[in-house]
Amino acid sequence: MEHTPRNVLVTGGAGFIGCNFVRHLLASDPDLRIVNLDLLTYAGSLDHLRDLPDPARHTFVQGDIGDRALIDTLLREHDIDTIVHFAAESHVDRSITGPATFVQTNLVGTFTLLEAARMAWFNDDHQAEQCRFHHISTDEVYGTLQRDDPPFTETTPYAPNSPYSASKAGSDHLVRAYFHTYGLPVVTTNCSNNYGPFQHGEKFIPTVIRSCLQQKPIPVYGDGSNIRDWLYVEDHCRGIETVIRRGRLGETYNIGGCNEWANIAICRLICQLLDERRPQQAPHERLITFVTDRPGHDWRYAIDAAKMDRDLDWRPLETFQTGLAKTVDWYLQRHAADPALITA
Ligand SMILES: NC(=O)c1ccc[n+]([C@@H]2O[C@H](COP(=O)([O-])OP(=O)(O)OC[C@H]3O[C@@H](n4cnc5c(N)ncnc54)[C@H](O)[C@@H]3O)[C@@H](O)[C@H]2O)c1
Repeated sequence: MEHTPRNVLVTGGAGFIGCNFVRHLLASDPDLRIVNLDLLTYAGSLDHLRDLPDPARHTFVQGDIGDRALIDTLLREHDIDTIVHFAAESHVDRSITGPATFVQTNLVGTFTLLEAARMAWFNDDHQAEQCRFHHISTDEVYGTLQRDDPPFTETTPYAPNSPYSASKAGSDHLVRAYFHTYGLPVVTTNCSNNYGPFQHGEKFIPTVIRSCLQQKPIPVYGDGSNIRDWLYVEDHCRGIETVIRRGRLGETYNIGGCNEWANIAICRLICQLLDERRPQQAPHERLITFVTDRPGHDWRYAIDAAKMDRDLDWRPLETFQTGLAKTVDWYLQRHAADPALITA
């Protein structure tokens, strides 16, 4: 059964993927309205929400997904029929030094949203089957792969290895339980690593680009052999919208780029793109520096996105070369406008 979102609550919409999704959805459907709930932690910024298409259809609310009274009010006052839940603590390194906020936001915060949706959508004013709770998760819940292992599918057993992935896995299980126990109309997507505009400076690809622009050492964990499967953020946003509209209730969908790269190879590719654009600084590769690996660093992630292709006719449009070129050019424009915008 197709779903037509009308009043959408996006959580974490001032963060990297959330702000790209808000832009995407406003541009894609002129008939929907968005309420964007974001706590504006270190990872979120109102700067990410400048120049939105048709901003009158977007309402920003600063607040915590763990604030039940606030969520109840938003669901009621804006007659929310669709929740797209991005808000999370998302950086693995931070989850190692400070796991408590990951449990609070990713697990307890998701629980609070599920409870609020259950109370709002199962009453006389609403027909729950005309609503959607879309939970955004990650491939990291599946653990790590060896070189010859097949990519993760939707039936791969969960084996999270960091406090970040464990807290996301726990939230996925709660979402699943709310479908099976209460019939809450949920869908979950597990996506591979994203890259593109507005990603926080602490993440890998922004760090490589920033180091090149600032002519500073490019830190690469271990020997740089760790492999991730990369997806351009706009492709992810299209995938999420597809699942919201046409995904089957209670299902999970893996979204990925079929695009596995070792970290060191990504560094070299970004360095080449910058050599072409700033030949006076070439070769940027001379900046690559290997640093001590993070504890429990998963070696390889890879997503099998065949279900998205087969069932929903979704596949990525960007190649890594075209997506990375767009990303590098976006950073160069920002750097030219104000170098202070490019921070860690
Ligand atoms: N970035 C990736 O490569 C990737 C890949 C797969 C899945 N995901 C998932 O996608 C989602 C978004 O990731 P991202 O990279 O955009 O993260 P991000 O860290 O850039 O943004 C997270 C946003 O959530 C907000 N937030 C944090 N705690 C909050 C709270 N308690 N209440 C309300 N808002 C809060 C932050 O202010 C921030 O704006 C996360 O759930 C993440 O697990 C990310």
